[in-house]
Amino acid sequence: MADIFDKCKGDGGYFGAFRHMGENELTRPVMDPVSGTKMLHNGEEYIMWSVNNYIGLANNEEVRAAAMEAVKEFSTSNPMGSRMMSGNTPYHLALEKRFAEYAQKEAAFLFNYGYMAVLGIVSSLAGMGDTVVVDKLAHACILDAAGMAKAAGANVRYFKHNDAQDLDKVLESVNKTHPDGGVLILTEGVYGMTGDLADLPSICEVKDKWGARLFIDDAHGIGVMGEKGRGAADFFGVQDKIDIYFGTFAKSFASIGGFCACDKDVRDWIMFNARTQVFAKSLPMVYVKALDKTLDLVIERQDLRDKMWENSKKLQDGLRNEGFAIGPGDSPIVSVFCPVGTGKADDAGGVGARMVQYLRAKKIFVTAVVYPVIPPGLCMFRMIPTAAHNDAEIQTTIEAFRAMASEMDLTLPCTPEDQAKIDKLYRCNPEA
Ligand SMILES: Cc1ncc(COP(=O)(O)O)c(C=O)c1O
Repeated sequence: MADIFDKCKGDGGYFGAFRHMGENELTRPVMDPVSGTKMLHNGEEYIMWSVNNYIGLANNEEVRAAAMEAVKEFSTSNPMGSRMMSGNTPYHLALEKRFAEYAQKEAAFLFNYGYMAVLGIVSSLAGMGDTVVVDKLAHACILDAAGMAKAAGANVRYFKHNDAQDLDKVLESVNKTHPDGGVLILTEGVYGMTGDLADLPSICEVKDKWGARLFIDDAHGIGVMGEKGRGAADFFGVQDKIDIYFGTFAKSFASIGGFCACDKDVRDWIMFNARTQVFAKSLPMVYVKALDKTLDLVIERQDLRDKMWENSKKLQDGLRNEGFAIGPGDSPIVSVFCPVGTGKADDAGGVGARMVQYLRAKKIFVTAVVYPVIPPGLCMFRMIPTAAHNDAEIQTTIEAFRAMASEMDLTLPCTPEDQAKIDKLYRCNPEA
């Protein structure tokens, strides 16, 4: 028999080469815990573009005060037990009511982690004979949720990234192969990795045509898009068409946990069948109380959203002026593309790593995304402008990118071939 631990000694697995090297800069950098536009890493201060503190609530004093009060009254432990047994409090119920109203749905349910929420919701609903239809570039939690559905006997199909026409074809085929099963479409509202907005109006039209149901993970849309930060579906005016709306608290809400909102009977089903929450301890009071305050702020502070969009525009315009190709500008995530030279998939990691190191030396902290998430020959910096960034930080960053382009001899603006790859990624030009 082989030793199941043998693989741990090699350089396989996710980021295996980095793990094997014991690397601690590009993966798992050790950071000071206080999030902000400037953050400490190895005792040095960096301008931070990799934290999803979209509207700058991470260190909000009103939220901190609400949390302190809750810790005094309830400690960090309470309530003990799962919601099903002894951890269901009037505070949890009241917060769920507020989130249901916020999301304009009949009912809502809280989860301790967004990731666990998505696994629990999807696996509770999709079983033998059903089908889940998944956007190919969806977040890992959606892909894993599809895996759980598959293990439970569901059929799993994928549609081309953000392509409602392809979704239509997939649903047509599912309607033939599995006419007696239900169908749940899984997608994001704002795609967290690529930073584009889901074409929700077209996706909703297609799902209505076939009588399928739609789940959206709006981790990156909630708090920033739409009226009062209600999210991507509200932005497109299709919130009423979303069958299950999911938002995490780990981004704009600067906390932990998440919620889903939907019809009451569906919420009740999820509440009793989403095993990742049914068999887990209840969300602690310190988060429940803090989130109650955060929800007030998310609703009231349009000024923070406006500031975030203003900063996003300044960053995008500045980098575009330097010749960098930028992904769709209407998303809270700014995707900045750099050519990596040879176009070979293997090179992207190496050149991307050198770019990250160059920017680190200039005290700019960014995250690079390479093939296979994006096409080979390109490196994408996934930058998160927040309401808290200031003009000086934006300007310093643009100057560092300019210096990088010149010292690393980047071909800017990118070639028509590279632009075609970017357009294809975002389907701006599907024929490309
Ligand atoms: C699109 C998306 N869904 C779900 C999650 C998981 O959320 P959480 O961090 O609350 O577990 C994330 C976080 O990275 C995400 O980006």
